[in-house]
Amino acid sequence: MSTLTDSQSTPEFQSTPECTSSPQPAEPRVALITGAARGIGASIAAALHASGHRVALLDRDGPAADAVARGLDAGSATAISLSADVDDGDQLAAAVATVAARWRSPDILVNNAARTVTTSLWDVTLREWDETMATNLRSVLIASRLCAPAMRERRWGRIVNLASLAGQQGSRVAGPHYAAAKAGVLVLTKMFAQDLAPYGVTVNAVAPAAVVTPAMDGVDPESLRTLADAVPVGRLGRPAEVAALVRHLVGDDAGYITGATFDVNGGLFMR
Ligand SMILES: NC(=O)c1ccc[n+]([C@@H]2O[C@H](COP(=O)([O-])OP(=O)(O)OC[C@H]3O[C@@H](n4cnc5c(N)ncnc54)[C@H](O)[C@@H]3O)[C@@H](O)[C@H]2O)c1
Repeated sequence: MSTLTDSQSTPEFQSTPECTSSPQPAEPRVALITGAARGIGASIAAALHASGHRVALLDRDGPAADAVARGLDAGSATAISLSADVDDGDQLAAAVATVAARWRSPDILVNNAARTVTTSLWDVTLREWDETMATNLRSVLIASRLCAPAMRERRWGRIVNLASLAGQQGSRVAGPHYAAAKAGVLVLTKMFAQDLAPYGVTVNAVAPAAVVTPAMDGVDPESLRTLADAVPVGRLGRPAEVAALVRHLVGDDAGYITGATFDVNGGLFMR
């Protein structure tokens, strides 16, 4: 039986360092997480911080984001908060500039901020439609365009966008504006992924459903029980379970994963 020597093996089967890993930065990587004052965003910030990243927690609720950041690092050396509204491109640009001045332009961007809205197809006003699109979809375009150039230049970057089951299947609970924005997030994810793939920058979407966060605070316990019963796994999800997936997607090992959508929904939707 003959074996292939290195010189005989075809390029696609060669295991070079370039194929299996990316150059490690001299300093910890910088992650910007929007909507990080609570819920899934706060959990993602905690998970990335625990992995050794420097984290910038952006939220329109500045004091709450600051409290979470202080909980991660009271001395602000490795965790900072940014008070900004993702609806406002100037505020987003200022926030990214603050992170760049403090550490460097983000290596990792997690577009998580969103408003959860339930107004029906027939009742949603055009104003609420536009506001929801601005927060849940337009902000993804703006923040990604702000952060991607430095990632592309460095030839390493990670963008993760929080989508939703509602953006895949529609919803009887979430409003049409929420669902349409999240469907838009899925296609924006693919467009940025196609554009940035040659530069070592991956862009993926995570689509949760039925994860217990403050966004569910208004839901009555009976409806939550009914929802949990409908989940094949038999319970509601936890923010840390979404954060664990995001942590993987932003790692060096995930360089071959891009343009993908990952469901975290306890089996509510199976492809
Ligand atoms: N919880 C779920 O079951 C679920 C399901 C599907 C998708 N998601 C998505 O996951 C992400 C996080 O959801 P969550 O349940 O933790 O939400 P949440 O409402 O608990 O937290 C959202 C955070 O975003 C911030 N935010 C909202 N609008 C903002 C703006 N304009 N500018 C800056 N910050 C803003 C809020 O202040 C809040 O801190 C969202 O994108 C949501 O659509 C969640």
